[in-house]
Amino acid sequence: MSKLTADVIVDLQYGDCGKGKVAHFLCKTKKYTHVLRYNGGANAGHTIFHNGKKFVTHQIPAGIFFGITSVVGSGCVLDPEQFFAELKMLEEGGVDTKGKIWVAENTHIITPAYKAEDKQVGGKIGTTGRGNGPAYREKYGRTGVRADQIPELKPYLINLYNEWYGGKKVHILAEGAQGFGLDIDWGDYPFVTSSHCTTAGALLNGLPPGAIKDVWGVAKVYETYVGSKKFQPEGEVFDRMADVGEEYGATTGRRRQTNWMSMQTLERAIRMNGVTHIVFNKVDVLRTVGQWAVYENDKKVEFKNEKSFIEFVNKRLKKLGIQKKNIFFSESKERI
Ligand code: IMP
Ligand code: MG
Repeated sequence: MSKLTADVIVDLQYGDCGKGKVAHFLCKTKKYTHVLRYNGGANAGHTIFHNGKKFVTHQIPAGIFFGITSVVGSGCVLDPEQFFAELKMLEEGGVDTKGKIWVAENTHIITPAYKAEDKQVGGKIGTTGRGNGPAYREKYGRTGVRADQIPELKPYLINLYNEWYGGKKVHILAEGAQGFGLDIDWGDYPFVTSSHCTTAGALLNGLPPGAIKDVWGVAKVYETYVGSKKFQPEGEVFDRMADVGEEYGATTGRRRQTNWMSMQTLERAIRMNGVTHIVFNKVDVLRTVGQWAVYENDKKVEFKNEKSFIEFVNKRLKKLGIQKKNIFFSESKERI
């Protein structure tokens, strides 16, 4: 086994599929030396119950709750105000952060001006207003600000090359943010986020392709999207999905639009991300709603019951090379 290996968690739909849950499961069972957030900024929202307390983080990776070294990668953009607020919240909540939270020195910074701009003009896309778009625009315009230019961040900076290739065994859990349908290149442009949400995005943080081992794709048995485009079709069933599934954003509190799962989107996402393991969340929601359906090339296909839905999905995934033992159907409140 080479000294540098990584497993990836990647969202196959529009974010909010339950990556956090998979991250917790993997943090508990595997021997990761690092958890790496590899794209996005404070637009992501991550809710966790730890020692009976509720924590919501936006910038800091899940590994911190398990005492694993947590890294904000160079593919991310970082809002220092948010970062320090989260550090304070974690410390006050009894989570040990000393020497465990790091920021790549070449990570780009979200400034107060970018946030103000995003809040003003982000409405067209329906952004989270967290300044992501402007920060990535300035990065690629070569007028951005990097973490090593912010004096307050100095104690938290690391050089990813030295960290990954320092000679010690490194096993990374690379945590993606947002999802395939929001990817800057493969999502429904312009209704996308500004970063690379695929497995390829993980590589941009100094990882060689050969380091990637397991790729955990995360989906829901129905889709949700939050933003300005029209996504939810007419029909009472979709409002029921949203109500039963409590589909409100962790970052902005906005109600998510819902729809049946698109097999086409799922297949593209599985192929492009190189998914080896897959978790479908919120099976209980469709069970309560009492209807089972997917889209095949925009045509709705209905199923008699949960069993025939699951059989259909398993069969389809088999064709894509995913073994049944690596496919998990999970419920909202269930820990896997
Ligand atoms: P931005 O990433 O804030 O620029 O927003 C662009 C689009 O991505 C909007 O439709 C947002 O609602 C969506 N988005 C960004 N982050 C998340 C997320 O973590 N979950 C779900 N949607 C997101
Ligand atoms: Mg989230």
